[in-house]
Amino acid sequence: MGKQRPADTPAGVTIIRIARANATILSKAADDVFDNPVDQARAAACAALRDYRLFVAIAEGVVIGQARGFIQPQPDDASWLYVDNLGVSNAWKRKGIASALIERIVAWGVSRGATLVWLGSEPDNSEASGFYRALGFEASPMVTWSKPLPSSRGQ
Ligand SMILES: CC(C)(COP(=O)(O)OP(=O)(O)OC[C@H]1O[C@@H](n2cnc3c(N)ncnc32)[C@H](O)[C@@H]1OP(=O)(O)O)[C@@H](O)C(=O)NCCC(=O)NCCS
Repeated sequence: MGKQRPADTPAGVTIIRIARANATILSKAADDVFDNPVDQARAAACAALRDYRLFVAIAEGVVIGQARGFIQPQPDDASWLYVDNLGVSNAWKRKGIASALIERIVAWGVSRGATLVWLGSEPDNSEASGFYRALGFEASPMVTWSKPLPSSRGQ
């Protein structure tokens, strides 16, 4: 990432890493932070992964923002950091919270040897485009392909 904004969050907002011991806080989240209700077993399993991090922003005991990242090791290049599902509750936007979440994820990625951070967003998502541009990310067009897989043991 070229440019890095200083991430100042409002008073009373803290950014914490979710680990197995504190994953229950995810059940207290503003309605518009996660796509679906958080499953505690899945959250604990994610928190236990070495190459995965979930950081959340907390205000008055409620999760008001989240960002996830994971390391992509490569046999022919240094590792990359992929950022996933960044989101801030509507009432808390434009207060530096996503910047602070990205700062934490990126610092962790760098500490794990990642030399590039990347992510995807929809072309018409002007919030995301404005945000990532402000942080010095550069866009390159790409088509993503996906296909549902048969479920295995309810996972
Ligand atoms: C994109 C998003 C995460 C930004 O969160 P945020 O906490 O409001 O971002 P910040 O306050 O840290 O913004 C930092 C800078 O990014 C830019 N930015 C943020 N939102 C923007 C918007 N809607 N339009 C244009 N620029 C924007 C600004 O330069 C802003 O600085 P400023 O407020 O001093 O002008 C938030 O709008 C969101 O949750 N959107 C819905 C989910 C989403 O699109 N996630 C990303 C998809 S991967």
